[in-house]
Amino acid sequence: MANSIESTLVETRVFQPPEGFAQHANVSGQAGYQALLEAADRDPDAFWAKQAREYLQWTKPFTKVLDESRAPFFEWFGDGELNVSANCLDVNLKNGNADKIAIIFEADDGVAKKITYQELHDRVCQLANGLKALGYKKGERSIIYMPMSIEAVVAMQACARLGVTHSVVFGGFSAKSLHERITDVGATLVLTADEQMRGGKAIALKPAVDEALGMGGCEAVRHCIVYKRTGGKVAWDAKRDLWLHDVADKQAKTCEAVTVGAEHPLFILYTSGSTGKPKGVQHSSAGYLLWAKLTMQWVFDAKAKDVFWCTADVGWVTGHTYVAYGPLAAGLTQIVFEGVPTYPNAGRFWKTIQEHKVSIFYTAPTAIRSLIKTSDAEAAVHPKSFDLSSLRLLGSVGEPINPEAWMWYHTNVGGGRCPIVDTWWQTETGGHMITPMPGATPLKPGSCTTRLPGITAAIVDEVGGDVAAGQGGLLVIKRPWPSMIRGIWGDPERYVKSYFPPELGGYYLAGDGAQCDKDGCFWIMGRIDDVLNVSGHRLGTMEVESALVAHEMVAEAAVVGRPDATTGEAIVAFVVLKRSRPEGDEAIALGKQLRDWVAKEIGPIAKPKEIRFGDNLPKTRSGKIMRRLLRVVAKGEAVTQDISTLENPAILDQLSKPV
Ligand code: PRX
Repeated sequence: MANSIESTLVETRVFQPPEGFAQHANVSGQAGYQALLEAADRDPDAFWAKQAREYLQWTKPFTKVLDESRAPFFEWFGDGELNVSANCLDVNLKNGNADKIAIIFEADDGVAKKITYQELHDRVCQLANGLKALGYKKGERSIIYMPMSIEAVVAMQACARLGVTHSVVFGGFSAKSLHERITDVGATLVLTADEQMRGGKAIALKPAVDEALGMGGCEAVRHCIVYKRTGGKVAWDAKRDLWLHDVADKQAKTCEAVTVGAEHPLFILYTSGSTGKPKGVQHSSAGYLLWAKLTMQWVFDAKAKDVFWCTADVGWVTGHTYVAYGPLAAGLTQIVFEGVPTYPNAGRFWKTIQEHKVSIFYTAPTAIRSLIKTSDAEAAVHPKSFDLSSLRLLGSVGEPINPEAWMWYHTNVGGGRCPIVDTWWQTETGGHMITPMPGATPLKPGSCTTRLPGITAAIVDEVGGDVAAGQGGLLVIKRPWPSMIRGIWGDPERYVKSYFPPELGGYYLAGDGAQCDKDGCFWIMGRIDDVLNVSGHRLGTMEVESALVAHEMVAEAAVVGRPDATTGEAIVAFVVLKRSRPEGDEAIALGKQLRDWVAKEIGPIAKPKEIRFGDNLPKTRSGKIMRRLLRVVAKGEAVTQDISTLENPAILDQLSKPV
């Protein structure tokens, strides 16, 4: 990320909230923002209690706000009870939104399907009744391995309605990754589809489920429920498999929402850490939903007339908070998009915005960067060739957005009139943490700007001491917040070790390096651990290394990230084979074989961009791989660092040459 850091730090442009926008914003002007900030800092418990009473409907009111007695295992609103699905659906029926469009499903082939809040409610109830009839109840866990679809949202909401904790697995993950998650979470139910459509092609999903369930250790899974997306041929296990329409369609359209405690786990979502297997990040019901709803108001400035579009897949946290829960809790009309930004051509986003009159658009920098390239080359797919006048707010998420991409987004997509909310957050935080409030915060391209009310974000040194403005350090959150991670599923020790290291004295460690300027604006510099961010997707270097060494030919592997103009970071793998080092065409062929192997082991998103073979890896005398040197050679730069502890300096020369 070095290039983007250097350019962001000299950024001096400031964009004030447009006057018209600020006037009507949910949080208006600096005064509005400061008032919320001060109220939350002055008396956090009173502040959160007020928000939780105002924004959520409780079946049993809470009397306690934050319980710190088992820190860092915090509880929020612990004795309150509610149901998340009732807060997303039934609330809208009561508020007069029954006939309002809840979801516009934009299929891969461009055909749109609309569904009202009443219809969505009915379908969620039907599936929940079907699951109930199969014996599923509160406390069980389900795996959802489905494409972007109304059905995926229905599946998540139906689980929430019954108190079944869901764990969504991105459809691009392999059978092996799926198996890891099914067994770790102890799932009793799997929901999937026959196939998914992406870029005009049908991609099978069910075979990965069949393979995963056949690997052993999944005996607790009683049913696999299959959504018929394409009608493609699937293998069928009559004892286990059921069509989703057979389970749901004949059921009643009302289903009483099962009341759960505020802390009941709504979902577990796996994400990469610096060591070991992916972590099952556990989220609560009440605190999580409060944050989803609140940030819809604060950050997306949600208004009844908005058409909201978050392009993230429900397999990631962004698709949880800002597709499956937030927009529904806020009563908005939203787009659920099945396709890819480049199909049938690179104008797809802009055409969809034009067609459905999208007013709030939220996507990732990697998508913007890839579209800049094609738009500049071909006028027909340039945003200027479309009517984007419905847009009033833009958002960015998942990785730092470089100022050049920010400016392009602002000028060409936002027509210079739409604020951009660059939202910093993580799977673990549940929702936005550091981000502009569009009617209040002056924007600086490349900075996610200021903290949200109640979010005590700060930059500290290795022992938790505050660092001065403009100094780099560790990004921490000093006090708990309602939507924070509640634990790593099945591994409380790892939770404490990863997020609350003792030397930081109880602060939440985000894992990002950052700095804060004199205006209180944060500039994220990237991960401080061995976590990579490829196209906004989080991957652990260890995971990719483990996949590589699982190949019979590989003796050793080290994986690093290299800055990439489109994907943010790209994976470069250094590999030592059990046999002699291949060269020329043989190295190219073996490199391809290993890249495909990683795609099969983890999923295509983990495929290394480049593989370099060596006789050895650069190691210290005690045998530790010197990754910092590999990062330098991966970039094609000369090593100027101190290499006195390196045992085999000659190896750097060998590894510095691409295959
Ligand atoms: O490094 C930060 C980066 O993405 C990481 C979180 O990844 P994940 O849990 O997959 O969640 C992504 C979607 C919320 C963070 O530790 N990141 C996320 N948003 C930003 C960002 N880096 C810079 N600016 C952002 N707006």
